Amino acid sequence: MFATTPLRIVAVSAGLSQPSSTRLLADRLAAAARERLAAEQHRDVEIQVVELRDLAVDIANHLVSGFPSAKLREAIDAVTEADGLIAVTPVFTASYSGLFKSFFDLIDHTALTGKPVVIAATGGTARHSLVLEHALRPLFAYLRAVTVPTSVYAASEDWGSSGDEYTEGLPSRIRRAGGELASAVLGRTVSGASRTPGLDDGEDAVVPFEQQLADLRLD
Ligand SMILES: Cc1cc2nc3c(=O)[nH]c(=O)nc-3n(C[C@H](O)[C@H](O)[C@H](O)COP(=O)(O)O)c2cc1C
Repeated sequence: MFATTPLRIVAVSAGLSQPSSTRLLADRLAAAARERLAAEQHRDVEIQVVELRDLAVDIANHLVSGFPSAKLREAIDAVTEADGLIAVTPVFTASYSGLFKSFFDLIDHTALTGKPVVIAATGGTARHSLVLEHALRPLFAYLRAVTVPTSVYAASEDWGSSGDEYTEGLPSRIRRAGGELASAVLGRTVSGASRTPGLDDGEDAVVPFEQQLADLRLD
């Protein structure tokens, strides 16, 4: 018997093609997370995919006007209220796409604090896989999200490949990332909050720098 409140996983896909390999990767990651969540927690899982392609004009309008359309507001709310997030971009010119970045530019920089996130990208060449580490991971660190260790990159040649001596095949990486997202979501849900008591108790916990220097001199 499943508990009543479903867990919400939101996958953001910035793919432009139709069909889109970025969307396919987002769907596969969401399915992997759902499978693990259902197996471990016997909770219903709701998956929502936010296709940025359909919001491109709304995103541009929001950037220049400062106001979101209703459907963009809905997408931003879905992302900020999700229990877990999957963020997938195509690689454009060796980085995340402009559409992907513009969407996350519109999200308040504290709104993803503590949120478990899987980062993933698709590209024409495997040589650009480090885009996950030099572009996406720092972006989500700035947004204070908790990015799971396994990030997933799918170059054209990865679809249908079984990996090599050093790397797993794509299905296995997807399963691992989905499992890590599920664990992170459950850890956060079980503890009931993303705040760490004692560490996040606000201004009182901050010792002024001059005081820290004075304490050092006394030691
Ligand atoms: C404008 C543009 C720039 C691109 N730049 C890169 C790149 O620098 N590195 C790379 O590996 N692939 C690059 N690609 C290929 C796309 O990342 C790749 O085809 C992607 O998987 C497309 O995703 P989609 O099927 O979801 O649209 C580029 C594609 C476009 C259209």
